[in-house]
Amino acid sequence: MNLNKEEKLVVKRYCFGTPVETGAVPVKPEISRETFMEMEIMQDGFSVHMEPEEMVYGLGETVRGINKRGWLYESYCADEPEHREDKHSLYGAHNFIIMSGKNQTQETTEMSGSVQYVTGKRSTTGFFFDTPGRVIFDIGYTQSDRFTVTFEDFSLELYVIAGDSPEQVVREFRALIGRSYIPPRWAFGYGQCRWSYLSSEEVREVVKKQREAGFPMDSLYLDIDYMEQFKDFTINEKSFGDFDALVAEMKKEKIHLVPIIDAGVKIEEGYDVYEEGKEQGYFCKDENGEDFVVGVWPGKCHFPDMLNENARKWFGRKYHRLLDRGIDGFWNDMNEPAIFYSEKNLKKIFKRLEELKKENLDVNTYFEMTGLVAGASNNLEDHKSFYHHYSAVSEDNAVNKIRHDKVHNLFGYYMTRAAAEAFEELCPKKRILLFSRASYIGMHRYGGIWQGDNMSWWSHLLLNIKMMPSLNMCGFLYTGADLGGFGADVTEELLIRFLSFGIFTPLMRNHSALGTRRQELYLFEKKKEIRGILKMRYRLLPYLYSEFMKAALRGTMMFRPLGFVYGEDDIARETEDQLLLGEEIMIAPVYEQNRTGRPVWFPDRMQLLRFRDGELLEKEIFEKGYAYVSMPLGDICIFLREGRKIPLAVFEDAGDNFVRNTEDVDYQNLEMYGFGESVAAYEYYMDDGETKEFSLEKNITIL
Ligand code: GLC
Repeated sequence: MNLNKEEKLVVKRYCFGTPVETGAVPVKPEISRETFMEMEIMQDGFSVHMEPEEMVYGLGETVRGINKRGWLYESYCADEPEHREDKHSLYGAHNFIIMSGKNQTQETTEMSGSVQYVTGKRSTTGFFFDTPGRVIFDIGYTQSDRFTVTFEDFSLELYVIAGDSPEQVVREFRALIGRSYIPPRWAFGYGQCRWSYLSSEEVREVVKKQREAGFPMDSLYLDIDYMEQFKDFTINEKSFGDFDALVAEMKKEKIHLVPIIDAGVKIEEGYDVYEEGKEQGYFCKDENGEDFVVGVWPGKCHFPDMLNENARKWFGRKYHRLLDRGIDGFWNDMNEPAIFYSEKNLKKIFKRLEELKKENLDVNTYFEMTGLVAGASNNLEDHKSFYHHYSAVSEDNAVNKIRHDKVHNLFGYYMTRAAAEAFEELCPKKRILLFSRASYIGMHRYGGIWQGDNMSWWSHLLLNIKMMPSLNMCGFLYTGADLGGFGADVTEELLIRFLSFGIFTPLMRNHSALGTRRQELYLFEKKKEIRGILKMRYRLLPYLYSEFMKAALRGTMMFRPLGFVYGEDDIARETEDQLLLGEEIMIAPVYEQNRTGRPVWFPDRMQLLRFRDGELLEKEIFEKGYAYVSMPLGDICIFLREGRKIPLAVFEDAGDNFVRNTEDVDYQNLEMYGFGESVAAYEYYMDDGETKEFSLEKNITIL
């Protein structure tokens, strides 16, 4: 029997053990009746041989490169501010991988009318290991030619997707997990954030200075300091007493204030969120059924049981307090969940410290002492000490109690789901900005993610570049890193390079930590360069938004590794510091200090469009091969593929105050930049950017 292309793209579902529902796959295909043959089944997982040229993609938000071969990754949402290469996990748990051989022909044999993929000879196969507990991916770490995945609980739903190319596999996978979250269009504008905007006056000041510098801006983020003693859904009446007036003023300026919401609810008599949660039994419980006590920003807290449907509804509805005051965007934080300490563990630590106090601390006891304090936070023992009432486990309330570590990767996802479902109920027509720190596949339908607490390090700029396509594969399209870096002190050069990359990412937010060098753009000398870069962001908006929307509505990737398109080109397959953005352009960010340019691999003939001060400065054609491209600070280089064109916004007033925000952009009268003799039409997607009237049929124009 000859199978046509359509029939070759199959998603097979297998079930091992007694999996816990994650909600990642909304409509599940029937369980396959075929025997699972794609990998060897071991006692605690699976293992398969990898051909030398085989690439492994996926895993979304994690450390290291686009090709994941050569390291051990752990899927266990981590409050991990040190995104170093010796780490094994970051905030997200994205258990999707693609194994792709260079040989694009796949071997198939006929078996009960469907396709059988022969281990080791496949072309491209995707695997989604759907389970909410810890998973270890050993991708050529222990043995360079073996991929091994092991589970703490060998119970999971496994989806196997076979296709001719990684892109096809991604498309099938994305169709399986459902449409990615779509934010309002203003969320594509520049956002300013810093942990330590301490009062409404300070917020006004930041906006004023940004405006005075002639820098556009669409949003200002409120970190924990807007709350009263870090209590969710409260406003600090002393420092943000005029909150309503502030929101109204900002609205006039077309600036959206985006407050943070944390996972922990402060234990405090009289604080209604605490009182209600306690009374209704909505908090996570310890082994004795008491509300579990953890320490986070406000001191002692309880975690709302995000997996309990009623608790989730209750917590989600609390967002209305801020929606009612004119807020239309949120970021959910500390939802791995991050734990400074548990009350239970802290007692033990203090007791032992008391004993150690009396001792002559030697090599053992000294390190025991320091370890005790350092190990208080995000302690695995704590994860094993509290429980959820997870309705999806069983209908029966008595048995649906489940220990946190077994469903750890769902917590941030379900917190974000809580908010998204409440928005659906409270303002069904309007798009609300929502993104989270922790995530699991499935959450991509409810919100975006930011890439957590990176550092003002050059290596993190590169890491953030590499993460974009991996996140897209897993459904996370609305994403971006803290531009400039969150921890550590930024330099002007690093900030400008971060920004020059950040103008391409859907979420474009400058964020920094309390105590670090301030990194608001107007504080730096090279204002002309910065203004030019920001202007490019707003000029690119028609293209970026259009590409984002098409990727969301079609289940495709906005950012692709070069190898996805130029699969026959060995250099392209190994190039990880350049990306394709949409069908039309390639980007090659500078991510090293003191560089005025960089080598660029051209997998094909392309045209460089060099923009300076937001205006086209020059065009240059590059043939296939390596070339050194000069990229002085402030220049934005876009590489147009042959036969393609892109739309850019035009600004009437080319002076300093060219555009203030996304609403000032004219999305209709565009300037087209094309390259080549015969240039393909551009499929331009544009909608109102606010409502949920997003359909490809209605909103595409051919330019
Ligand atoms: C966490 C967040 C960071 C935030 C800080 C204070 O570290 O990741 O973005 O600024 O908490 O709320």
